[in-house]
This record gives sequence, C-alpha cells and structure tokens, in this order.
Amino acid sequence: MATTETESSVQTTTERNPEGYLGFTLGEFEFSRDDYFVYINWPTGRHVMSADTFLKALQRDVAWEFFYGIVNFDGVIGTVNHYGDVDLFAGRYNDGWRKAELDHLENFPTARIKATFQAMLDDWTNEGFDPFASPDETGTAFGPKNGSNTAAITRHRVTAQRMVGVPGDEGLRSDATGHPVNRHFHDVPQDEPEIHAEPGFEGDVAAFNLFAYLSRSDVTWNPSVVAACKDSLACPTTEEYILPIIHGNDRVEWFVQLSDKIIWDVEDRDTGTVRAKVVMKAGDVCAMPADIRHQGYSPKRSMLLVWENADAELPELISSGKLPTYPVDL
Ligand code: PHB
Ligand code: FE
Repeated sequence: MATTETESSVQTTTERNPEGYLGFTLGEFEFSRDDYFVYINWPTGRHVMSADTFLKALQRDVAWEFFYGIVNFDGVIGTVNHYGDVDLFAGRYNDGWRKAELDHLENFPTARIKATFQAMLDDWTNEGFDPFASPDETGTAFGPKNGSNTAAITRHRVTAQRMVGVPGDEGLRSDATGHPVNRHFHDVPQDEPEIHAEPGFEGDVAAFNLFAYLSRSDVTWNPSVVAACKDSLACPTTEEYILPIIHGNDRVEWFVQLSDKIIWDVEDRDTGTVRAKVVMKAGDVCAMPADIRHQGYSPKRSMLLVWENADAELPELISSGKLPTYPVDL
C-alpha cells in the first residue's frame, strides 16, 4: 500500500480506506481495519482479529510499555519485551505456524513500535469506546470511523513509588476525584483505617482501605502499582469479562484473589498446549510459573492482587536455568 512517514517514524497509508481508517506499516507487517475486523499481513501469512479484541489488547500493550515478557493479542499475534527493544511476532508462539515455517518476527526499538501502536490505537478507537472499560460500561468498537477517545486511551496505570496515600504518591480514589463506587461493589465498606502513631512518627505511618480504593477503579484488567518495596510490587486490579491479552511470563507472578472469582486458562508459553484450568475464588492464592501463558475470565467484577517481582535479572536467570520456573518446592 502507498504509505507516508511522519516525524516519529510512524508509517501510515496516504489515504483513508472506505470505512475511514488509516492503514499502518511496521517493518514488513501491515495493519488495517474495517467495521468489524483488523487485518494483519506479513510476508508469509495473514491474520484477522475482531477489532474489539485487538484494540483492548493494543491498549494494554501501549499503556504497560510492553509489560513483562510476552503480550499475546491472541494465539498468533503479539510482542516480546526485551526492555529497550521489542519483538513483534506472528505465529512465533504457535505450534502450527512454527511447524509450517510461516511464522514471522521483527525487532524494533521500543520508541518506534510504541509510536506506531499509539497512533494506530488513536486512529482506530472511536468516540464512546473505552478499551479499558468492561463491555457493559462502554460503547462499541465497531462501525466506520467516528471521532476518537484520546482521553481514555492515554490513561496510565497508577504507579506508586512507595504506597498509595503516602505524601507524594497518587492520591486515594474518592467521589471528589471523580471515582464513584463501581456498580458491582456497592457492598464494599468505605471507611478508612484509624492511625494512632507514636508522637513524632505521625508523618511516617500511613494506611488506607485497599478494598474501598479498588471498588472505585473505573478500568478493568489494568493493575496499579499501589505499593513498592524494592523489587516487590503489589499490583491490585479490578477484573470483569476477559483479560484482553494472553500473558506469557518471563518470571513467576503470584495472584491473590481478593474477591469473587476468576477462571484461568493456562497454556505452555511457547506452543500454546493446554496445561491447566485454574478456578480462583476469594482468598485463593496461586503462583503462575515462568514458562506458561495465561488468560483470565471474571464472570462479575472481581478484585485481584497481582504480585510482581521487578528484578531485571530474573528473565536471564530463569531462561538460563539458574533459577527454576516455579517459586517454591512444596
Ligand atoms: C497478568 O497477565 O498476570 C495480568 C494482567 C492484567 C491483569 C491481571 C493479570 O489485570
Ligand atoms: Fe501474567
């Protein structure tokens, strides 16, 4: 297709298609969309995805700076984060595509792929559609081009350096900050803990009601770092419907189900072979190994604590076999 290159090296088609959308080129990958679908072409293959599924995955990949390890948009398309550069792949982690030798992978500096993904997300997200929201709380992703929703798609997840509520970190959510209690969480008590600090320590002690905080989250499947202690990151989130990515781990991560229920499909990270079905109910704790990929299903809005270890040496220690792919011998 005829393309043009902008200052940030985003390559788009010079003209909009009949549905009003731009096409994008990144290396040898070509992306286009119409009313219902996104089409991805590469030299040895082609793929089609629902526009709705694609935009929700794209939104997370951009907002999370390509996250830990692999972000699979589905069983074919995705990205691998090398923390400075990023692989964009088609069929690389799919046994069928691999065996047919039709898979494709290209590496890009993070800034380049991010600029293209951001521009694509902005052009393809219509007014009234929020890729972070639950299906019941947003408009449609489908149809011809109709405005945009830049405010929604440029949201960043909350990232506390210490703990939410401590001076200097992201403030607590409240009616006043435009965060009403979600329709599924009207039963969550909103009282805050009382703090009785020893004299002289008033500025050093803080506490907040995590359940109340989460009950006011306006997004789904978007962990916030609410507490950080060295590399230990507490990343709770509220979940509803389906995790829009299939996450391929490069390290172990722990899940603590704080309320309700999530069903997890767990597959081999590299081939997609089914490994487990995990049903987590309130109070359940599990560790997801470093050699799997997973996708969660939350029948109603639920609260999940994702506990991440941000140590940058972990992927290499695990892939070289110096550390096991699981956290503990029982
Ligand atoms: C995960 O991939 O572990 C993950 C991502 C987003 C969530 C929850 C879990 O909201
Ligand atoms: Fe994960």
